[in-house]
Amino acid sequence: MSKLDWDDILDIGLPELDNQHKRLLALSNSLIQAMTVGKGKEVLQLLFEEIKGYTAYHFADEERYMRQIGYPHQEEHANIHKEMTQQVDEFREKLLNSKVSADEALDFINNWIVAHIMKEDTKIGLFAKS
Ligand SMILES: [Fe+2]
Ligand SMILES: [Fe+2]
Repeated sequence: MSKLDWDDILDIGLPELDNQHKRLLALSNSLIQAMTVGKGKEVLQLLFEEIKGYTAYHFADEERYMRQIGYPHQEEHANIHKEMTQQVDEFREKLLNSKVSADEALDFINNWIVAHIMKEDTKIGLFAKS
């Protein structure tokens, strides 16, 4: 089964946020696994709500941290979080209408959160250390 593995390349050097990212990947893997074994809509929906809820918590906490350290691109970053929240809502609709395979879900999550951690969240870690 394909899944999202934590890799040190995703480590942004801020343990609290890194742990939240790890949790997000773990929750995403639970969803992908449930899809792989063909779990029903209700189970997928519950898992998805968990991802959504935890994402909202994580984004809020990351934004609080950016304010706390005076990160210069915090507004731009928060806007990206808003877009990502919309994307996950759209994806949820697709998923619950059974138009998505486990591989497609894996692709989505990879592009959605993994790419964001590497491209944007990494910059917060670099700024915090500068
Ligand atoms: Fe972020
Ligand atoms: Fe993040």
